[in-house]
Order: sequence, then structure tokens, then C-alpha cells
Amino acid sequence: MKEKERGVPSDLARKTLSGKKDAHEDMSSFSELPTVKPDAAFTLLAAYKTDTSSNKVDLCPGFYRDENGRPWILSSVIQAKERIHADPKVNHEHLPLAGHTELLRQSKELVFGKEDRDLKRVASIQTVSGTGANHLAALFLSTKLNPKTVWFPNLGWINHTAIWKLAGSHVQQRFYPYFNGENQIIDFDAMVEVLREAQKGDVIVLHACAHNPTGVDLSKEQWNTLATICKNTGLFPVFDLAYQGLASGDVRQDASAISDFFDRGNLEFVVAQSYSKNFGLYGERIGILHIAALDVTAAAKITPALTQLSRAEITSCPSYGARIISQILGDLKLYDQWLEDLATMHNRMKTMRESLYHGLLVRKVRGSWDHILTDTGMFSMTGLSTTQVTAMKEKHHIYLLPSGRISVTGLTTRNIDHVVTALEDILGTY
Ligand SMILES: Cc1ncc(COP(=O)(O)O)c(C=O)c1O
Repeated sequence: MKEKERGVPSDLARKTLSGKKDAHEDMSSFSELPTVKPDAAFTLLAAYKTDTSSNKVDLCPGFYRDENGRPWILSSVIQAKERIHADPKVNHEHLPLAGHTELLRQSKELVFGKEDRDLKRVASIQTVSGTGANHLAALFLSTKLNPKTVWFPNLGWINHTAIWKLAGSHVQQRFYPYFNGENQIIDFDAMVEVLREAQKGDVIVLHACAHNPTGVDLSKEQWNTLATICKNTGLFPVFDLAYQGLASGDVRQDASAISDFFDRGNLEFVVAQSYSKNFGLYGERIGILHIAALDVTAAAKITPALTQLSRAEITSCPSYGARIISQILGDLKLYDQWLEDLATMHNRMKTMRESLYHGLLVRKVRGSWDHILTDTGMFSMTGLSTTQVTAMKEKHHIYLLPSGRISVTGLTTRNIDHVVTALEDILGTY
């Protein structure tokens, strides 16, 4: 007869009964986790904070900074908050599963434009900011569209690839040529050439405006060519719209590629909209995912499918920022104030670009700098190598991303001379 059958306890049962364990049983289930490299941008931010130099300059942030290098709360936001706080009907209940209903409607109009457009063929859902919109797009498309490949611009926003790795791990990732660092322009011919390899149902990620990290956007003509390529090859576009109003200063202009794609009437696409930067509401995490379908029937099916995914992840979205933005978009006076706020941010960045450009020119700093004036949004590439970026930090306490990207929102009238002097020291002169 076997021991078990005779009622003799097994090894495991004996150990359990005696309370004795093998040495390895005390090890954490997670001790074998691979070490993850810390996020480059957030590590630099932490290093900047602990730097005690009075000359330190942070040129990393993807956040707007005011003339004193400090976070700025928009006037329109201050006023909207006052109204919300004064309203006794406001409570802390959940938003509906798809998000703030009025904000969803307003966001469609802001992104696609309301003139004569049938926005019923757009399905929209609130998300946890632009990152969440990209994430939900990747989750939805990777399962419902089943693309073989997702195409990203080279260069691009570092998180796009990470998001797709997480939410669409079976989808192959490839890069299309975008930025030519030598002459600081878009290599559109190379882009078109490589996209010939795309297959029907592949996804292409595009920055609608204020391209991060280069600050270089496609022209209207290039967008048109791209729309035709998408139609002919069956490429599915995902527009990342994180800087509406901050590229040209004009909210309609910055979303014009999106309305042009929509007006063709024969393209389906996604827009991952972020309200972080254009409302200065970084911590409130408000974004919207829009899917433009070919017809109203398809759009009506998409909304519940998105809601189902979102329900399983977050149930419902943050409400405070949604209320603020909806107040502003729904009130003429606050809306005008917001446009003024956008102009304030846009003009300050433009002035800083001009000051940097003139400083570099006057000191004859080695490099080609014309693009600093024509780049849009917060970012520009300096062409600095990683060694030169490190030297900027170690010799001059000036922080920029290892790629050589600067954010012009970190420049102020007080620090610009120091930045130009440092670049002169690192790059030399003609
Ligand atoms: C291109 C791009 N997309 C999306 C985002 C996401 O922004 P958030 O999640 O803060 O709205 C950013 C932020 O830096 C960005 O640069």
C-alpha cells in the first residue's frame, strides 16, 4: 500500500505541519524581476531638483513654465475653478462610464471643427489624459483591427513604443523616417518610400502638431499626400494631439490635418487628445480618445466597445479637470480668456526662440540654428551629442534630454545668456 493511502503525510504536508521551510521558500516571488532602467526625463528632473547651483536651468520639461521658470495656472482655469467651487450642485459622484458627457461633445467640436461636419460618425470616450488615450487606442486597435505592424516616426515620443509594447505586445513595431538631423527637416521622400512596405490594416502613429521631440511638422501638402497613402494602402492613422493651440497659437490650425482627413469622408482614424498642456492641467489627467468611423452605425458600435475596455481598467475617469475644461469650452467669456491664455504661452515660447536664435547668431555659435525660429511648440533638437549634453549638465548646470532635445519653456530672459554662453563653450564658434 502507498504511504498516501496508509495516511502517511507527504513531504509538503510534513513541512507544513512542522512549520519548517526550505531556505528558498523565504525568497520573494519577485526576486528574479529584471532591473528596470529609470525613466530618463524623470531622473533628470530629480537631479535638477537636487542641484544646488543658482545658475541651474531645466530645459527638459514637456510642461509650460512662466517667465520665472515656474508652473503657470491659466486665468481661464482659475475662473472656471471659482465657478465650480461656488456651485452647490457639484458633488463627488462618478462621471458616466464614457466620461463627462458635455466635455465629450465639446471636444469633438474642438478637434474636428463644427462647421458643417457630421460628428455623429465620431465615437469618443474620456481617458486618463493623452497617455491613457494612446493606451486605449493601442488596446482597441491591436485587438479589433489586428494590425501586423505599428509604425512610429523616427524620432518620436518615447512613450508610444512603450504603450504599444504593453497594450499590443503581439503587434510588430517599426519606424518610418521622419526627421533628418543634419538639415533639421522632415525627410518626407524617405518616409513615403518606407511606408510603401506597410500593409493593409497596419497602424501609423502621427503627431498632429508640435512634433515631440523635433518641433517639425508636416506641411499641408505632405499631410494630403499621407492621407492618400493611408487610403491606398489601408494604413490606419492614429493622431496624437497633445499640443493643440501651442504649435501655431491657433486651435483650428493645429488640428487642421485632422479635419482634412475627416473631410475626405473615406478614411477611418483615431485621435488621442490630451488636455494637459493646452490647459496647464497636467495633474488632472484629462484626455479624450476619438475614433472617426466611416458611418454613424459603425461609430455607435465602437463607443460601447471602448467603454467595455475602459470599465475593466479604470471604471470611470477623473472628474475635476473635466469640469474645469467643460466650463471653459462652454462659456464664451471663459473661452475667449482661454484663447488669450494660449496666446500668452505661445508668444512667450516664440519670444524665447527668437532670443535664443539671436544669442547664438551674435556669438557665432557653431551649428545651424534657423530651425529654432521655425520649429513649433515646446521642443527643438540642438544636435548636441550625449557627451555634450552631459557636459552641459556637469559644467554649466543646464539640463536637457540625452537626445539633445530642448524645451524652450525652460528659457527665461534671466537664464538665456547663461544658456547661450554654455552652448558657445560646448560647441565652439565659427
Ligand atoms: C506627443 C505626446 N503625446 C502624448 C503625451 C501625453 O501627455 P499626457 O498624458 O500628460 O496628457 C505627451 C506628453 O509629453 C506627448 O509629448
